[in-house]
Amino acid sequence: MTTSAAGNVEVQPSGAALGADIVGINLQTDLTDATFAQIEDAWHQHSVLRFRGQQLDDDTLAAFSARFGALDMAPVTRSGKPYILERPEITVLSNVVVDGKAMGALGNSELVWHQDMSYNELPPKASLLYGIEVPKEGGDTQFYSLYEAYNTLPADLARRIQGVTCKHDATRTSSGELRHGYEESYSNEERPGAVHPLVVRHPASGRKALYLGRRPNAWIVGLSNADSDALLDELWAHIANHDFVWTQQWQVGDLVIWDNRCALHRRNQLDPATRRLMHRTQVQDVATPVAGWD
Ligand code: SIN
Repeated sequence: MTTSAAGNVEVQPSGAALGADIVGINLQTDLTDATFAQIEDAWHQHSVLRFRGQQLDDDTLAAFSARFGALDMAPVTRSGKPYILERPEITVLSNVVVDGKAMGALGNSELVWHQDMSYNELPPKASLLYGIEVPKEGGDTQFYSLYEAYNTLPADLARRIQGVTCKHDATRTSSGELRHGYEESYSNEERPGAVHPLVVRHPASGRKALYLGRRPNAWIVGLSNADSDALLDELWAHIANHDFVWTQQWQVGDLVIWDNRCALHRRNQLDPATRRLMHRTQVQDVATPVAGWD
């Protein structure tokens, strides 16, 4: 593992295809612009950064997140309201139930690989997830490099997805739950969602990445259902056949930020008898995903 120090920022790469720890930084105290610029550079290089041992309330989490750009509003709960009325930019993710009411989204479910909110025309560029209560085991979050996924595509498959776009389903969460205000089922043509290129060029790194969103209910625009499913299955099999993964095993006080433009993430199994409580913010992008065709 190589450690690099620039100013007061020490970067410890994970050694996997993506991910690095930033050590020696207390996010509660003010960061200088120079320190923040080093953190942002490290993020562009490693796609996922972890800061251990932080003590963040919602104000500090929102303030640090906002250094990366304007914050998105969080997806609403099933009742159509924000998770925290006075903090509508914070998504509460939790399996904790109080008086029969779920404290947050996504429960105990194991989540499939996905990019956050790619069903929006302007998906968030970053997501920041802060561990408030974490189980001793399980509930890890895994990250997958979509740069490496693109770089290793068989030539024929890379050629076949040139100029191809995909519709990302807006109607269901990453655990498959129907979102507020949507019907149970739609045709591919009618399903609400946003259309994005299958290959994007990252605006900061200039590198090309696959842009897949998530598999369920995705549709390659203009193809028959069968042809769309066949192409998507081939792309997702490519993901499954490679291990461009870094696994975050949570400790209380971990803050993880990932680049939603070039990384997938998923959560593994969680024992329903354990408690997990996380707060997440999303940072708006300034431009819709840009196609990365040759
Ligand atoms: C998410 O998909 O943003 C949640 C990840 C997690 O709960 O670990």
